[in-house]
Amino acid sequence: MKKGLFITFEGTEGCGKSTQSKMLEKYLKSLGKKTVLSLEPGGTKVGREIRKILLGMEEPLAQNAELFLFAADRAQHVEEVIKPSIEAGSIVICDRFTDSTTAYQIGGRKLPEELVRYLNATSSGGLIPDVTFLLDVSPAVGLPRAIAASNMEKGKIKKIDRFEKEKIAFHEEVRKAYLQIAAENPERIKIISTEKQDIHTVHEEIKKHIKYLLGV
Ligand code: TYD
Repeated sequence: MKKGLFITFEGTEGCGKSTQSKMLEKYLKSLGKKTVLSLEPGGTKVGREIRKILLGMEEPLAQNAELFLFAADRAQHVEEVIKPSIEAGSIVICDRFTDSTTAYQIGGRKLPEELVRYLNATSSGGLIPDVTFLLDVSPAVGLPRAIAASNMEKGKIKKIDRFEKEKIAFHEEVRKAYLQIAAENPERIKIISTEKQDIHTVHEEIKKHIKYLLGV
């Protein structure tokens, strides 16, 4: 039985998801809400091992192996963290969820739609976010931002990860897929451009939607 809320952030590289999810958590805490901030891949101990393979592996990874690892990471995350937290009344904020798999593995990798949708449904246990913020930025602007940020992060598995190494055309396909998912789910997915707006303006827009959702 559901008691809390489930909020996800989505978008292509360098769109500002991690900054915005942290800002949203801080805001929700200031309202006295119980929150859990997590991410995919890597929201559990098992998931952190899977993340190392997904992002840091030097050897080529078969596309289906990549897909199944994202699904395995999610299945663990949903069972161990997301579902119990929602049931305990928390607001769970997750940096990436099933829409990432749809956008990257169908839009980017061109894997069969039916297979990806089946794995999304099973790995998530049917859980659908209450609201999703799609932070939209063109890869020409976002990708260099992401690469610069990775180069600055010392603790990263690899300086530039497997996805950041993909060509700009791949990221254009991912962005197109995201916009299509948003068009198919207008009630759930809020598109916010982060191309020119500063982080505070983006945060204010997110707050507006959250206040409506919470009725405050
Ligand atoms: P991460 O460092 O978390 O990137 P970001 O800061 O952009 O979120 O790396 C996650 C990468 O994995 C990102 O490039 C998107 C990709 N990904 C998929 O391809 N499929 C998925 O289902 C998920 C969750 C992520």
